[in-house]
Amino acid sequence: MPTTHSKRFIAGAALCGALFSLPAVSHFDEEQMPQSYRQSYFALLAANFGPMVASVKGEIPWDQTKMENWANDLAALSTLDVMRGFVDGSDKGTTRAKPEIWENKDDFSAKMDDLHKALAALQQTTAGGDRKAIAESVATAGKACKSCHDDYKAENYIY
Ligand code: HEC
Repeated sequence: MPTTHSKRFIAGAALCGALFSLPAVSHFDEEQMPQSYRQSYFALLAANFGPMVASVKGEIPWDQTKMENWANDLAALSTLDVMRGFVDGSDKGTTRAKPEIWENKDDFSAKMDDLHKALAALQQTTAGGDRKAIAESVATAGKACKSCHDDYKAENYIY
């Protein structure tokens, strides 16, 4: 018999699912906290970076205030220690993280630092308001995402 408390929890969880359904498939699994932590982090990156790319491509109307908000949030996300989500032993489970990450932790960390630098620059350029310069900074940040994904992220779940 479910208790009232657990019923309320289930109702709350269903509501959250409806409110926060993102295009990226993210999950939160108590058995796989590091995996969930890092995937949630990347989902937040994408939720802020995606619309910036779409704006630069002209797929959605340019809104300078929103651009600044997304860039500020990306810079704020940079202050989180995402390496907490890549602790030893978390290479298994529901993940697209390739095992090479744990063999090349320094290189992986360096690529994360490159992203942080690119996002700091993006925040600054976006505040400046020059759309051409912003487009260049978005491209540089996009290359930092891609450069890491090319080496360390599988297309599909690998376990
Ligand atoms: C230093 C490496 C690295 C950088 C930089 C990086 N990613 Fe990732 N990303 C990963 C890895 C590894 C995964 C797979 C995580 C997993 O499945 O456990 C991932 C997963 C993702 C996912 C899927 C999340 C989910 O729901 O499971 C998205 C979306 C994503 N990244 C977007 C981005 C964007 C956008 C950027 C740049 C703004 C970026 N990433 C930069 C390594 C990186």
